[in-house]
Amino acid sequence: MPEIKFYHRPAVPMEMHKVKIVQRLELLPAKQRLEKMKEANFNTFALHNKDIFVDMLTDSGVNAMSDEMQAAMLCADDAYAGSETFYRMNDKLTDIFGIKHFLPAHQGRACEHIIAVHFVKPGKTVIMNYHFTTAKAHVTSLGGKVEELVSDAGLITASDLPFKGDMDLDKLRACIEKEGAENIAYLRMEAGTNLIGGQPVSYANMKAATDIARAYGIPTVLDASLLQDNLYFIKTREEGMKDKSIREITRMIADLYDLVYFSGRKFGFGRGGGCMVRDEKMFHEMEDYVTMYEGFLTYGGMSVKEMEALIVGFEESMDFDVISQGPQFIRHCVNELVKCGVPMVTPSGGLGAHINARELAPHIPDEEYPAGAITVAMYLCGGIRGMERGTLSEERNPDGTEHIAAVEMIRLAFPRRVFTLSQTEYVIDRVKWLHDHAHLIGGLRFTHEPATLRFFTGKLEPTSDWPEKLVAEYVKDFGEDQ
Ligand SMILES: Cc1ncc(COP(=O)(O)O)c(C=O)c1O
Repeated sequence: MPEIKFYHRPAVPMEMHKVKIVQRLELLPAKQRLEKMKEANFNTFALHNKDIFVDMLTDSGVNAMSDEMQAAMLCADDAYAGSETFYRMNDKLTDIFGIKHFLPAHQGRACEHIIAVHFVKPGKTVIMNYHFTTAKAHVTSLGGKVEELVSDAGLITASDLPFKGDMDLDKLRACIEKEGAENIAYLRMEAGTNLIGGQPVSYANMKAATDIARAYGIPTVLDASLLQDNLYFIKTREEGMKDKSIREITRMIADLYDLVYFSGRKFGFGRGGGCMVRDEKMFHEMEDYVTMYEGFLTYGGMSVKEMEALIVGFEESMDFDVISQGPQFIRHCVNELVKCGVPMVTPSGGLGAHINARELAPHIPDEEYPAGAITVAMYLCGGIRGMERGTLSEERNPDGTEHIAAVEMIRLAFPRRVFTLSQTEYVIDRVKWLHDHAHLIGGLRFTHEPATLRFFTGKLEPTSDWPEKLVAEYVKDFGEDQ
C-alpha cells in the first residue's frame, strides 16, 4: 500500500513502522550554536553530533535498522574466513541481482577504489551520467578523467522532468567517437544521482546507454547505492512499469550491467558495501584488491554482524511499502517549501530535499560558497545540519582556479525511517525563516584547504561578522533559549 488515504484532510506521509528505540535530542540555544560552529571552523562535518538537533547531513550509515535486522545480528557467524554469513549474503545478492560473484568491501568508496584500480590507467576516461565525489576522486587520482553526460535538462534545478539523472545518448555516442572506445575504462551509471538532487534515472535510459556501451565493448557499471529510491521512481513515474514488482525492476536493471556496486550504508539500511561481478575471470582478477585493501574475501572489511543485518535489509529494500516512505517524506518537505517560496530542486527526488543556493542567496558569489554558507546558517538558525553540495565539494582545476559546480545546492538528507513528521515540519519552518532572512547570510573562505575532498576536513571562516548578525536576528524572533 503506497499511500494511506485521510478522511478529513489531505493525506500526509505515513511512517510504516513504529518506534521501539529512541535517541535523546537536545536543542542548544542559538548563541551556543554559534560558539560550536566557530569551534568547528565553519565546516559542518566538524560539528559534534550531540550539538545537532536534526541531523540531515546524510543518509549514509544512519538509516534506522528494523527489529528483524537487529535480531539477525545475533545469528552472525563471526569468522575471519569461511563465515556462513558471507555465503548467505552472497546468495541473497545473487537472488536479487542475478549476479553470481560478490566482492565484499567496507563501504561504497572502497568498491569505487577497487573498480578504478582495476580499470583506470593514466589518460583513460570514465563516462558517468554524473559524478559522485568519491567515485571521481578515485578515477582522477589514478590519472584518469571523468566525462559527465547527464542531459542538459537534468541540470535545470526547477523543472518537472521525471528522470533528471538520464544520460544524453547523443553526447554518449559523440564522446565514445571522440575519445575512442579503447580509451574508455567503463561507463558508470549512478542510480538516484546524488549531486544533482537525488534525481532518478529511467530504466529506458539505462537500457539505451548500456546498449550503446556494449556495442563498443565498453564495460558497464551501476552504482546502486541509491537504487532503493530510484526503484520507487521507476515504478511510480515510468511508463509501463507500475505493474512490475520492485524485485522484477531490480533484476531488469541489474541484467544491463557487468558490475553492480553499492554502499551498504545506503542500500540495505546498514553499514558495508560490495561489488557484484558478472564475469568469473574479471571477478578472480579483482579478488586480489579485496585482500590487499579491504580484508579477507568473506568479510571485506565489514563487521560480520552488520553483514547479517544487511541480508535482511536487502530484502526490506525490495518492499514497496518500505521504500516509498523516504520519497514521500521528501516530496512533502519539498512541496511545502515551494509553497513558502523557497527555491527547491524539483521534482522532488530521493535521498533528501535540495535547496537551490544560488537562488536563495544570489548576493553570495560562487567563489564564496553560497551553499556552504547557507548550511552554516541553517545550523545557527535551527540546529539543523544539512550538507553543502556545490563548489565547495569540487576540487580545484589543475591551474588552481575554482571549479564552479554546475549546481549549487544544500541537501537536507532524510535518513530512512529516522525522522517523524513533526521534525520534518520543524525543518520546513526554519528553512522558511532563513529564506526570509537570506540577505543576512554572507560568504565563506578557506583558512585551511586540503587538496583532495576538501569539504570533509577543510577549515573555513566567514567573510564578515554575518553569523553574529544572523544569530542576533534569530534570537529576536525565537528568544534566547531556542
Ligand atoms: C551515489 C553514491 N555512490 C557512492 C557513495 C560512497 O559510499 P560510501 O559513503 O559508503 O563510501 C555514496 C555516498 O554517499 C553515494 O551517494
